[in-house]
Amino acid sequence: MCDKRLCACEKKARPGFMNPNDERVKILEQAYAQFAQIDSKSLLKKHLTQQVFDTLKTRVTNSGSTLMDVIQSGLKNPDSGIGLYAPDQHAYDVFSALFNPVIEEYHINFTSDDVHPDLDWGVPEQLGDLDPEGQFVISTRIRCARSVNGYPLNPTMTEAHYIDLEAKIQQALNSLEGELKGTYYSLVLMDKETQQQLIDDHFLFKEGDRFLEAANANRFWPSGRGIFFNDMKTFLVWCNEEDHMRLISMEKGGNLSSVYSRLVKAVTEVEKKIRFSRHRRFGFLTFCPTNLGTTIRASVHARFPKLSEDYARFTEIANMYNLQVRGTRGEHTEGEEGVYDISNKRRLGLTEREVVFEMRNGVLELIKQEKQLQGD
Ligand code: ARG
Repeated sequence: MCDKRLCACEKKARPGFMNPNDERVKILEQAYAQFAQIDSKSLLKKHLTQQVFDTLKTRVTNSGSTLMDVIQSGLKNPDSGIGLYAPDQHAYDVFSALFNPVIEEYHINFTSDDVHPDLDWGVPEQLGDLDPEGQFVISTRIRCARSVNGYPLNPTMTEAHYIDLEAKIQQALNSLEGELKGTYYSLVLMDKETQQQLIDDHFLFKEGDRFLEAANANRFWPSGRGIFFNDMKTFLVWCNEEDHMRLISMEKGGNLSSVYSRLVKAVTEVEKKIRFSRHRRFGFLTFCPTNLGTTIRASVHARFPKLSEDYARFTEIANMYNLQVRGTRGEHTEGEEGVYDISNKRRLGLTEREVVFEMRNGVLELIKQEKQLQGD
């Protein structure tokens, strides 16, 4: 007797696999052949070798996602830095032959035996102010992402999931008190001018991000999307954009202690109401593999007019401290008048405390070098 699950004579595909003649496999093969002709510096291009592709092209997750759902953003946007997303939680495991090398390269020093450590916020007061004289740092911002337990990720969410999750998040946020107390604004109800103003002021996410669009993450927009903020706009939460939740603490100047301690307070409070998803190896679960682990991006907007004159050298120094340089208006933008967004690059494999210290140490070094150049 043959084993029906494994036997090739069985016409139906086994669980977790498509039949090799499935139309979806053909489409994947064509797309992969086309991608081979295209120039791209993405990690997708680097790590989706023929061998990895052949191993993964027939796989399906328990929510029905295929390799196409993982890679389509990178296929459509060859200028991607990374190029892949997890259409559902199971994808990180089913497509590990692709995710693992990408994750290990992006999050420098996270090797194949590593498991993300337990949460450790550390002591916010130890961080201090990055620029007490206010000469370089314009503003400081720290964000983290959370997925809510029991809900799928963007490409596998229904409109009902979005609306239901928004209500749940809104309810949890409405119970915040003191400095964190604020109001939730649903995008569905927001007029276009207010929305644009919030985007221009760097408070709100932009609409129609082409990387997310291609990953099927903007479906049913603006349903279930929105923003919460306190009166001072120093604590904000994005609802159902790239991740279920983005919790953000920000203020003018370089007081890292203040910004971080507010974030820690907020996340700790929200966690009393909402259960977050964690992956057994990758820590807090996010839609994009660059955000796994602590999910923390701690950044400053700062002026480095001298250092950035030699842009190659500037990014080289930043890299030495595991920092990432982005343009003034964030990801995929240019620096304007020597103002850059500098943040920690890796978020996985080290604790929250270590991540924020990594950003602090690197930024202090950049400031020191900028000071020296200005003194010359
Ligand atoms: N998919 C885009 C790329 O590969 C964005 C990656 C990181 N950014 C993010 N918002 N998840 O360039």
